[in-house]
Amino acid sequence: MRIGVLCSGGDSPGMNAAIRGAVLRGVEVHGFEMVGFMDGWRGFHEDDRVPLDRAAVRGISPLGGVILGTSRVQPFLSGRGDEADIQAIRDRVEEYGVDAFLLIGGNGTQTVAQLLTEHGIPAIGLPKTIDNDLSGTDYTFGFDTAVSIASEAIDRLRTTGDSHRRCMVLEVMGRDVGWIALHAGMAGGAQVTLVPEFPESIEQISEWVLSVRDRGRSSLVVVAEGFRLAGNEAQTTRDGLDGFGRKRLGGVAEVLAPLIEQRTGIETRATVLGHVQRGGSPTAFDRVLATRTGIAAADAAEAGQWGTMAGLRGDRIAMVPLAEAVGHLKTVPEARYEEARLNFG
Ligand code: F6P
Repeated sequence: MRIGVLCSGGDSPGMNAAIRGAVLRGVEVHGFEMVGFMDGWRGFHEDDRVPLDRAAVRGISPLGGVILGTSRVQPFLSGRGDEADIQAIRDRVEEYGVDAFLLIGGNGTQTVAQLLTEHGIPAIGLPKTIDNDLSGTDYTFGFDTAVSIASEAIDRLRTTGDSHRRCMVLEVMGRDVGWIALHAGMAGGAQVTLVPEFPESIEQISEWVLSVRDRGRSSLVVVAEGFRLAGNEAQTTRDGLDGFGRKRLGGVAEVLAPLIEQRTGIETRATVLGHVQRGGSPTAFDRVLATRTGIAAADAAEAGQWGTMAGLRGDRIAMVPLAEAVGHLKTVPEARYEEARLNFG
């Protein structure tokens, strides 16, 4: 069987380990021939392929990024995912002699894996995103690395913030969900953690910051990029385009910091962590999770379990039907937010 491997969406530490796990099991144990498409669907559309064998994956687990590259290029040329788009993919698949796909990606990629399988193009999903927002899996690889980097940033911001008696606001990634903010905030003892799932008002945030000051301490506020102020959405976004004409993501810390300063009179600084939290070497946890995900995906291909995703369920990697995983993001539940709230103010 010839299997095509493709990564799509933003990169996530651990992708190399996942590829290595899938190749070692797929090629060495199951006798598959494996090929990687470069830069996601771009490589597929433009026939940019590399062989994936033991030599190609040697020593890659500790490496950040992904050897195949990744992109947000869409699989469907018209963007609609209609019958003509599927047929175009089918034609390419036949031309390349590819029997099935292992697709490494987030919610969008898993949706594509499901659609392809439904149309007779067998696919298995490997979930990845630093945001940890994919349903059907307890954790995605890349998340632990991002949280570690964000917690270290909190620790460092705290010492400079304390020295100047300032309020420090750290923005972390999390476009739709607040998992990175929640975990990093808890690990770093943030006095306020703001997540998209639970809007808070500027009055409430300022009250927390002031009560920390009243106890003689400085506040560390961690905010997910997707957070919006309760009842005042417009004020929270740094509307507009970046220098390249693209819609800006994030920037919420830069909006919040002056609002906090105005209301509390406490000097406040904003830091946007940005892509630092997606770069560099994966943690040991992410390497192990990713390797096991790759192994399970190769085994599932051997067993013909198409239309499934290798999700972490407790301590086990389970092949979850893609239908269970796609279409709804895994958000921070209220009970988890309540735990973080214990440290607020
Ligand atoms: O989906 C992962 C993610 O890291 C989000 O948290 C973030 O909003 C986005 O990707 C950034 O995308 P890009 O790398 O394309 O700027």
